[in-house]
Formats: sequence, C-alpha cells, structure tokens
Amino acid sequence: MLRHWLLLLLLGVGAANRQRRYGKDRPDPEEVTNYSSIKVKHYGTFLDDCTMAKNDGLYTTFFKGQKKNSTVRCVASFFGGGWTVIQRRRENTVDFRRNWVEYQNGFGDLKSEFWYGLEKIFRITMSEPTEIFFLMQNTEGTRAYAMYDRFAIFGLTKNYTIRSLGEYRGEAGNGMLYHLNMPFSTYDRKNNGRGQDDCSKLFWGGWWYNNCYTSNLNGKYPAKKEMHTKCYRCIAWTYFQQYRPITFVQIMMRPIRVRT
Ligand SMILES: *[C@@H]1O[C@H](CO)[C@@H](O)[C@H](O)[C@H]1NC(C)=O
Ligand SMILES: *[C@@H]1O[C@H](CO)[C@@H](O)[C@H](O)[C@H]1NC(C)=O
Ligand SMILES: *[C@@H]1O[C@H](CO)[C@@H](O)[C@H](O)[C@H]1NC(C)=O
Repeated sequence: MLRHWLLLLLLGVGAANRQRRYGKDRPDPEEVTNYSSIKVKHYGTFLDDCTMAKNDGLYTTFFKGQKKNSTVRCVASFFGGGWTVIQRRRENTVDFRRNWVEYQNGFGDLKSEFWYGLEKIFRITMSEPTEIFFLMQNTEGTRAYAMYDRFAIFGLTKNYTIRSLGEYRGEAGNGMLYHLNMPFSTYDRKNNGRGQDDCSKLFWGGWWYNNCYTSNLNGKYPAKKEMHTKCYRCIAWTYFQQYRPITFVQIMMRPIRVRT
C-alpha cells in the first residue's frame, strides 16, 4: 500500500488526473455486478464495442469483418469505462490447459472465467490504438495492476506475436516486457524458440512464452496445497509475486481514445 502511494506521488502532475480516477475506481468491477444474474443484453442494434456500454455486463456485438455476432463482456464502472474483458481467472472452474485452436477462438464462460480468443484480441488491437490493463490479486488479497498504452498483436500468420506494448505504468512490475516480440505458444504449438524449453508444456497455459516467462496469467489455477508455496506452472507475475500464485486476474483492453 505504501509503495502504491509513493508511486502515485512520483507519477507527477501530468498523470495526476488519470491516476486519481484509477484510485477512486479501484474496486473490482465484479463486486459491483452479480454476473450470474445477467442476461445478455440485446440493444436493438448491436454494440459496436465496449466503449458504448453504459453498464457492466454482457453485450452482443459484431466484430469488424465478421458475419456472426458474438458476446462480449464490458466493464463500464472501472477506470473510466470502455473496457473489453479478454481474460479472467477467479476460481478453478475452467481449465486453461488448452490447445492452439481453443486459444485462437476463446473458451470458458464470459460470466465467470474465460479466455476471449486471440483472433478477437487481434481484431481489437488492429482496429485502433489500444491500451491493456492487467489486474491481479494474490492469496492475501493484495491487488496490483500493470498497464500498457499501446498493446498490439499480429495475426495468425505471425502466430499472434506481441507487436507492441507501449509505455508501462503500474505497481505489479513490467511483467510483459520479456514477452514483447514473442509469438503465442500452446502445448501443441511450441513457438518460443528452437533449442529452448517447451514452455507451454512445462508451465501449463497458452502464452507469449519466451524462455520462459515473467508473466504466466494463463497458468494453472493453484490447488489448495499450491496456494502458499512456489508454483512454477501456476498463474504468475514474477515482479509482483515471484512464483507464488495469483488467485484473481482480469485483463481488459480499450481504445486509447476513451481516456483522452
Ligand atoms: C446472484 O444472482 C444469482 C442468480 O440470480 C443468485 O442466485 C445469487 O444469490 C446472486 N448472488 C448475490 C451475491 O447476490
Ligand atoms: C446472434 O447470433 C445468434 C446465433 O447465430 C442468434 O441466435 C442470435 O439471435 C443473434 N443475436 C441477435 C441479437 O440477433
Ligand atoms: C507459427 O507456428 C507454426 C507452428 O508452431 C510454425 O510452424 C510457424 O513457422 C510459425 N510461423 C511464424 C511466422 O513464426
């Protein structure tokens, strides 16, 4: 907590407004909305994207260039709103040890835990400059965030390589930098460098593994006995928790125009 306030002080006048807004909105959006009671909202016409969502919830949307509608989880109550949730972990209801095609298309339950899908993430980052926000919490309930103001990935032909991150801000540490320029890997598609460890097999999730990680947010959800020890294959962000597990994660993206 002390570290957090020092950080806020150091961020300077330019960022003061934005930081104050983040501070005020710190509660987890999940605490605001009971997702198990939500029905997907149909807004007559579709929502183009989460920047149009007035409330937290599930919405129907069209992706640019796609014929079928899809459901999206939007967060309006958090840090100025406009967020599309692309990943979420909070209990152990969804297995994240999945193959390439599943990571490509997405899996899980938008009301609880899920991975939104690389193809959709790619389409979002491709359509306009996008920022990304990683919110996480350890077993003691301490929260930390990391954000990057120009997140973009390439498409399938480049195996969804992280193309840019932009500037890092936050308190969890710069855990994505090591993964910049790395393609995505799953247990059935090792893309993290010839001669290197098969990181996805070793560390469970699909991720932009290097050799191997400083973040592993799609790793294994810790079992009870793994909660208070090092767990290399579990959900991790090493600058925050080293290899001790994280038990809540929410990753969100939004166009940078929302905050300017
Ligand atoms: C959330 O909604 C579900 C379904 O309507 C209900 O069963 C449950 O009790 C609600 N939980 C809370 C914390 O209000
Ligand atoms: C979205 O697509 C599904 C499946 O194709 C369809 O059943 C549903 O009615 C569509 N939603 C709207 C709002 O049209
Ligand atoms: C993408 O991944 C596949 C399977 O791992 C690999 O054969 C291919 O060379 C990769 N493509 C690029 C551009 O790295």
